[in-house]
Amino acid sequence: MKTKRFMVLVAGVAALSVYVIPDARADPLKRDVGPNSNPAYEKQCGSCHFPHQPGWLPERSWREIMGALGNHFGENISLASPARDDITGYLVANAADRQFSLRSVQVIASIKPGDTPKAVSQVPYVAGIHGGFLDPAYRPQPQLKTLANCSACHVRAAAGAFSAVQFTVTDEAFRTNEPSYANVLSPAERLALRKK
Ligand code: HEC
Ligand code: HEC
Repeated sequence: MKTKRFMVLVAGVAALSVYVIPDARADPLKRDVGPNSNPAYEKQCGSCHFPHQPGWLPERSWREIMGALGNHFGENISLASPARDDITGYLVANAADRQFSLRSVQVIASIKPGDTPKAVSQVPYVAGIHGGFLDPAYRPQPQLKTLANCSACHVRAAAGAFSAVQFTVTDEAFRTNEPSYANVLSPAERLALRKK
């Protein structure tokens, strides 16, 4: 009898821990990449285009980009060493394979293990969502040549909120209003993710 009770208790605690401690990490699993937290990065890397949050690319991509500033998409954007090291450190520490947001999980899941995407728009997850958007025949607003400037269409891109579920995309065809949308996943959503 006692053993049976104990077993029930153990089973109960185990079931509860699935919800209370969904993973070994303390931070809650966020939906999205969130805002940047390094002013030097925003200043140095946000003057020509939207400063993509580190959670959009794996560490190896950021290292490659930061190691080739002399030829950055045809531009020489070389930085002196303290600034370069600070920015590299920020990007690496918060890279998609280091942080824990659903967005970054999807980014990493879409990249083949040996591949090193050189741009956020080349990440299969991002490229897939936007397939055909740059096709002149589709005519979304605004009309852009590349996807690099996320903030041109995603009005809350600087906050790291990219969901088309909120009023966050300029293209009206994609807008819906979903007030219940929360940035932290529900236990059921987290559980579904773990089972994949
Ligand atoms: C002098 C202008 C300039 C500065 C400063 C600059 N970039 Fe860029 N960057 C570019 C250009 C041009 C592209 C290609 C844009 C395009 O495809 O439309 C680009 C593209 C990118 C992309 C890929 C965008 C995509 O398509 O997903 C990343 C990532 C990136 N830059 C990171 C950085 C980082 C990190 C820094 C700071 C160290 C930086 N950039 C600073 C000019 C700049
Ligand atoms: C030409 C306008 C445009 C640009 C530029 C653009 N997007 Fe989008 N994006 C959209 C639209 C429209 C949707 C909604 C697509 C849908 O729901 O099928 C979308 C959807 C998304 C989604 C899925 C959102 C969700 O609901 O989960 C992500 C993630 C995303 N974009 C990331 C990016 C990133 C990162 C960049 C920059 C590298 C970018 N986008 C640049 C128009 C754009």
